[in-house]
Amino acid sequence: MSKIAILTGATGGLGQAFVEELLKEEIDEIWAIARNAEKLDSIQFKYGDRIRPIRCDLSNSDDLSELSHLIHDEKPDIRILINNAGTGRMGKYSDFTDEETERLIDLNCKALCLLCGYAIPFMSAGARILNISSASAFQPTPYINLYAASKVFVRSYSRALNVELKDKGITCTAVCPGWIDTDMLQKEYNGKPVRFPGIVPPARVVKQALRDSAKSRDMSVCSFFVKYEHFMSKILPQKRIMKIWMNGIKDYV
Ligand SMILES: NC(=O)c1ccc[n+]([C@@H]2O[C@H](COP(=O)([O-])OP(=O)(O)OC[C@H]3O[C@@H](n4cnc5c(N)ncnc54)[C@H](OP(=O)(O)O)[C@@H]3O)[C@@H](O)[C@H]2O)c1
Repeated sequence: MSKIAILTGATGGLGQAFVEELLKEEIDEIWAIARNAEKLDSIQFKYGDRIRPIRCDLSNSDDLSELSHLIHDEKPDIRILINNAGTGRMGKYSDFTDEETERLIDLNCKALCLLCGYAIPFMSAGARILNISSASAFQPTPYINLYAASKVFVRSYSRALNVELKDKGITCTAVCPGWIDTDMLQKEYNGKPVRFPGIVPPARVVKQALRDSAKSRDMSVCSFFVKYEHFMSKILPQKRIMKIWMNGIKDYV
């Protein structure tokens, strides 16, 4: 039975950094999931035949059901599942269309839970799930409200799932990075360049996340900057944290 890793959002900034680290693990195949077939092919071209490109729109029910059938048909030994694909942008609540709101929740929350459900029956002791949340999950975050709320869901779901999976010897880690230097970041908002305090390269987040997951930690927080934010979110009232955040983004909104 082939040992595999399933990685969503494999073609993005964090995804490619995960591919590079996963290739060092004892894994036969990496099932690399994203929508853009050309980008998936170029990942396979760059990293070789251990990459299996799988075109799938995770916010589409038919595509999700195909993925579920593929797993059931092949019955692989899933050693690692990384729910990394995610979407979000800055904006006021009224800037989001109904479709955009639905797509964000479908991708960031629904698909992640479904994939855990599809994969767990094919995982055994020592297998690991990493779900990518965000430091924006530490408190309510105006103007990235919807995105941040979806990441609160991911963090809470993952930590509770970790407890539920203890008897199977499977771990689930909520990865909570701050700003990461990838294409997801909107480099300007309302015509002004956006500052990203404490921004780090994707490889740093990925290495820390895999280290924390190997140690069976239910959360991974990378860099002193984000650890400080996490600590402050525990000791300060959330209203105070939101005021500090609003002060930081006052030039854009
Ligand atoms: N960048 C940051 O500052 C930051 C901070 C904290 C947390 N995060 C989280 O880190 C994760 C990765 O983000 P990133 O910065 O690497 O983003 P990115 O560079 O924009 O990559 C996003 C990846 O997700 C895939 N994707 C998007 N929509 C999809 C869909 N409907 N179905 C399947 N795949 C889809 C994209 O490929 P296709 O477009 O081809 O589908 C791409 O591979 C996300 O969960 C994000 O929320 C990012």
